[in-house]
Amino acid sequence: MTIIDGKATAATIKAEIKAEVEAMVARGERRPHLAAVLVGHDGGSETYVKNKVLACEACGFQSTLLRYESDITEQQLLDVVAQLNADATVDGFIVQLPLPSHIDEQKVTEAIDPRKDVDGFHPVNVGRLAIGLPCYISATPKGILTLLQRYNIETRGKKVVILGRSNIVGKPMAQLMMQKQYGDATVTVLHSHSQKLQEECRQADILIAAIGRPAFVTADMVKPGAVVIDVGITRVPDASRKSGFRLQGDVDYEAVAPLCSAITPVPGGVGPMTICMLMQNTLQAARQR
Ligand code: GUN
Repeated sequence: MTIIDGKATAATIKAEIKAEVEAMVARGERRPHLAAVLVGHDGGSETYVKNKVLACEACGFQSTLLRYESDITEQQLLDVVAQLNADATVDGFIVQLPLPSHIDEQKVTEAIDPRKDVDGFHPVNVGRLAIGLPCYISATPKGILTLLQRYNIETRGKKVVILGRSNIVGKPMAQLMMQKQYGDATVTVLHSHSQKLQEECRQADILIAAIGRPAFVTADMVKPGAVVIDVGITRVPDASRKSGFRLQGDVDYEAVAPLCSAITPVPGGVGPMTICMLMQNTLQAARQR
């Protein structure tokens, strides 16, 4: 059984990106520049954005963090987006989600210039992905595809089962996996109203769990020899930890891992790849400037 090491893979890719950036700089080009907009003080968002800024440093990128209090109006935030769209020194930017409830997230996402939408959340990028055109691919599904590629796990013609149909993971993952130029697999998407869930999962050569339900995937749902990719990261109480919690994936790892040919751990699997793919998208933006 192979444990797919996302942390090590992400470190390798960040080193590759840094080497490419230094070559750009040596040619007299500007460093890639990622801006991040953070509204309010959500603990999770603070951590994610901090890690994105650190990843920029590791890759040799310029980064700008724009912070606003949670009472910023929707119009003020739309004005910030318009300024970033117009700023020729910014190659790509993200608005960290979730936003306060008085702000329409969809409206803000659609205000971002698709050419700077390194999250790949704008409908233009989502639509381009769906019809196989060049686009920014959202970071988590792109990270999963990259892990499978770097571990030489064949996807062509395989049966891939995706648990979850979210806009940021399940749906784009299904698009990537079904398309000839990416996964070239046969794809099934399961969700809260799917029937015969256990039987469907047991058919999977590659099972991708992205439903946000801790330890949902049990041993009886996995075919022996399957590849299991765990996207879940839920904080569950754990009195034995100093922090009082631990991160639990969507897979019952202890029970499932012995059955698998390969599996991603939580933490250290898919998670570290996500930010790394944001860096790749920012490099792609800088190349296209
Ligand atoms: N919130 C949780 N994940 C993400 C992400 O990938 N991008 C943005 N902008 N917000 C998020």
